[in-house]
Amino acid sequence: MDYLQIQGPTTLNGTVTISGAKNAALPLITLTLLAHNKVTLTNTPEVADIKTLLKLLENLGATQTLKNHVLELDTSTVNHTMANYDIVKTMRASILVLGPLLARFGHCEVSLPGGCAIGQRPIDLHLKALEQMGAKITIHAGYVNAVAPNGLQGAHIIFDKITVTGTANIVMAAALAHGKTVLVNCAKEPEVVQLCEILRDSGIDIRGIGTSELTIMGTGGKTIDMVDFEIIPDRIEAGTYLCAAAITNSTITLDNVRHDHLDAVTAKLEQMGCKIDITDSTMTIHPAQKLKHVELITQEYPAFPTDMQAQFLALATLAEGTSIIEERLFENRFMHVSELQRLGADIRLNGHTAMVMGGTPLFGADIMATDLRASSALVLAAMAAEGTTNVHRIYHLDRGYEDLEGKLRLLGAKIERLKE
Ligand code: EPZ
Repeated sequence: MDYLQIQGPTTLNGTVTISGAKNAALPLITLTLLAHNKVTLTNTPEVADIKTLLKLLENLGATQTLKNHVLELDTSTVNHTMANYDIVKTMRASILVLGPLLARFGHCEVSLPGGCAIGQRPIDLHLKALEQMGAKITIHAGYVNAVAPNGLQGAHIIFDKITVTGTANIVMAAALAHGKTVLVNCAKEPEVVQLCEILRDSGIDIRGIGTSELTIMGTGGKTIDMVDFEIIPDRIEAGTYLCAAAITNSTITLDNVRHDHLDAVTAKLEQMGCKIDITDSTMTIHPAQKLKHVELITQEYPAFPTDMQAQFLALATLAEGTSIIEERLFENRFMHVSELQRLGADIRLNGHTAMVMGGTPLFGADIMATDLRASSALVLAAMAAEGTTNVHRIYHLDRGYEDLEGKLRLLGAKIERLKE
């Protein structure tokens, strides 16, 4: 198993190029299951989760090549409808094949994803919505068996809770359903918006893009002539590099970034004293003279993202005063706290809220990554800590950050990937 060895404290400088968004690419790859043509996706991030999903699509019968971030995907040859446990257990986002497979073939069998490190993460809202569209769903031997022999029917669906992959799954199902589907209380994340835009550009009548109510006219089972497209930049990767600069008191520039997707993140960095200059596709962050404490609550887009909570928690350990960080989306997303405490951070957890007493110096230690974003927070803290830190179990990082250590090394970090 690989681990990262980091020498701190370090100062960064230079420019980092942001990769395509993993969480946009995942649903967009499954979207191609609705197409009858070969589709080219550019700016595809080359990270483990994308490779896992491509393997799943190959198992279903698709053909693909991914080279230099250009993904060519042909799903016209798909002839299986089972997403098996071996793959789904390694990546929950595999559930994104459920809507498209059911809509195209009238049946599918997808392993239940189960829980994960950050919480229970049920898929009840995906299943309930498909049932409202006429699907018959049974759970047997750990699999969701879904059938809709006469195709899915348009429906009026109100999501009880805002769900990102739930919205994506049902939008894809609705695109091939019979008649009109109205979805209320949808996710408005940029990744969902891009999915809807590509459907619109491919000829689907879809209204309300970017709002919480979407209206979709289905094709009645006909597959789509899909356009080629470029995946949006990863706002969470970008936010992580902004935090890397802030925690190391550095000025760096991010290239290939959408600053409008990062408003909630930059607002908090500015409250903490950092200065951010933007152009069309770049952001330059200048460090705070003295980092100030922060109060934040994770919520759905456009509010502050849960996927940036761990990185801000690491940053708060070095800020003046007491920061309050509340996690509202996932019940178990504070696993990084005990690892940060191993570096010397003073953090008190009370249910869903972390109180961070900032300003205590951090010292290098052996620490363990627990989930994707928690892992990046540990790397950030290690760059600010005095001495050597070894971050173990970095396979979590490889799932969603493209060449994190290579990019940080180019910025001047002393970081090495070693074998246990
Ligand atoms: C997406 O997960 C992201 N994953 C997550 O990023 C992200 O943290 C999350 O959205 C929130 O922004 C991908 O896009 C692949 P949800 P998703 O359904 O869609 C509850 C990362 O690090 N819920 O919006 O699975 C759920 O338990 C990952 O890149 C139900 O109760 O999240 C949670 O409390 C981690 N029933 C809330 O809704 C359901 O059927 C929001 O979850 C579905 C969700």
